[in-house]
Amino acid sequence: MIKTFLIVFSCFAVFMMGVFGFKDNKFRDTPIRLFPDMDEMDRVNSQSPSDLFENGRGSRPLVPGTVVNSSDESLYSLDFGAGRVGYYYTGRFEDFYGKGLPKELELNEKSAEAFLNRGQERYGIYCAVCHGETGNGEGVTSKYGIVGIANLHAPNYAADQYPEGRLYDVITNGKGNMSGYGYNIPVDDRWAIVAYVRALQNAKSIPSEELSK
Ligand code: HEC
Repeated sequence: MIKTFLIVFSCFAVFMMGVFGFKDNKFRDTPIRLFPDMDEMDRVNSQSPSDLFENGRGSRPLVPGTVVNSSDESLYSLDFGAGRVGYYYTGRFEDFYGKGLPKELELNEKSAEAFLNRGQERYGIYCAVCHGETGNGEGVTSKYGIVGIANLHAPNYAADQYPEGRLYDVITNGKGNMSGYGYNIPVDDRWAIVAYVRALQNAKSIPSEELSK
């Protein structure tokens, strides 16, 4: 009895799919939605026309005189270093990648900790999605099809093989499938990330007994 029911039911399901297709497959009309889930909304896609405005443009220009409204002074003077030369801006001395952090960062014992914390935070925002919180290359995107993400703990990225200037350069200009962040992350923050990547690499080589002391 159950068997017959299942067979009839499956045939019916296949028949219905054959006639009506899957969602959005066969009909161009708006389907009847029992649970609309915000599938359809009144909105203007960016860069597309709209009848609502007289000149027909969906995108509205900024009101004249608009300025950044923030008490964060640093927003007005972010330095992305485009087109600048020197180790601080490029990670290179002439044709060679440099080692160490540039003196322009003016790091001292007091500021170093805040600098590293900043690096950790920025790494979490910009890098961890791909390289993972620990740098092992298994961030969340690796589970959704981004392949070949570098494991930053591989020996060829260690300090003796891969100088700080080169790390900085990869963050700035990207490499292969990784795009550059030179236009998104200010110079100082890129160096802070460099420092944090080193910290991650060093942390990996500390034996766990040492850590629990
Ligand atoms: C969208 C994913 C993605 C993000 C975000 C990302 N990377 Fe990558 N990264 C990759 C991939 C993929 C590679 C391998 C590139 C290749 O060799 O083709 C790579 C390679 C690298 C390498 C090795 C380059 C070499 O010389 O082999 C370093 C170092 C690196 N990334 C650091 C970072 C840092 C630091 C950040 C954060 C500012 C970051 N990445 C953000 C995907 C990403």
